[in-house]
Amino acid sequence: MRKKFIAGNWKMNLDSSTAGALAKSLAAALKKDKLESYADVAVCPPSIYLTTVAAALAGSSIALGAQDVFYEKNGAFTGEISTEMLKDVGCRYVIIGHSERRHVIGESDQLINKKLCAALSAGLEPILCIGELLEERQASQTETVIERQLRQGLVDVKKEAMARLTIAYEPVWAIGTGKTATAQQAQDAHAFVRGILADIFDDGIARKTRIQYGGSVKPANAAELMGQKDVDGALVGGASLKVDDFVGIIKAGCDLEHK
Ligand code: PGA
Repeated sequence: MRKKFIAGNWKMNLDSSTAGALAKSLAAALKKDKLESYADVAVCPPSIYLTTVAAALAGSSIALGAQDVFYEKNGAFTGEISTEMLKDVGCRYVIIGHSERRHVIGESDQLINKKLCAALSAGLEPILCIGELLEERQASQTETVIERQLRQGLVDVKKEAMARLTIAYEPVWAIGTGKTATAQQAQDAHAFVRGILADIFDDGIARKTRIQYGGSVKPANAAELMGQKDVDGALVGGASLKVDDFVGIIKAGCDLEHK
């Protein structure tokens, strides 16, 4: 069975005590069901709670990720957080280019590329998010948009660094809306992403790069989505805030319910 990578993006939904408690309960649930042998699991709390969550996860197999990072190593950048700071508090992963950063904060492909290169050269494992808006899908622009986000996001990324990079395909119209891409829509987009990776790098890199689906993943749709040939895991928002739902996604996504 192929190993899945399931990450929970907690966004601005918790305070320090609920973040710590959620991390502890998740760690206990994963251990109880021995889920670490089927999936790599990470949680991405708000930066201000990374240390709280790191402490709560001590001794567990759940990795820690951040929701964003700045591209400079250090210096006078008020409000920003560097790759070194993320590593200092125990982060392994960092989400880069999430749709809310692209479309609410206004981050460009160029800025996202700088952050991605900084994360890779610092030894972090970035999750590069890409995905089209509803109007772009309706105008048959899905492939054009995700190709641009991929090519511009991956400028100057070396082949050797690709083993540490995950792509998350997240159609913007499916994020937090309860609307999920159909399994076929997800598979088509993921296969397209793999084709672009083969073109930028080579077939081996394209085959080995993990491509997560994100956008209203729930226990009820995880099996079908993650059963697709090119879907290697999930980036989960809302459902990662409830232990039963997140664990249900891991189990369904790894097809454990039938074992
Ligand atoms: P959602 O969020 O699962 O709540 O749709 C996904 C994401 O933002 O990564």
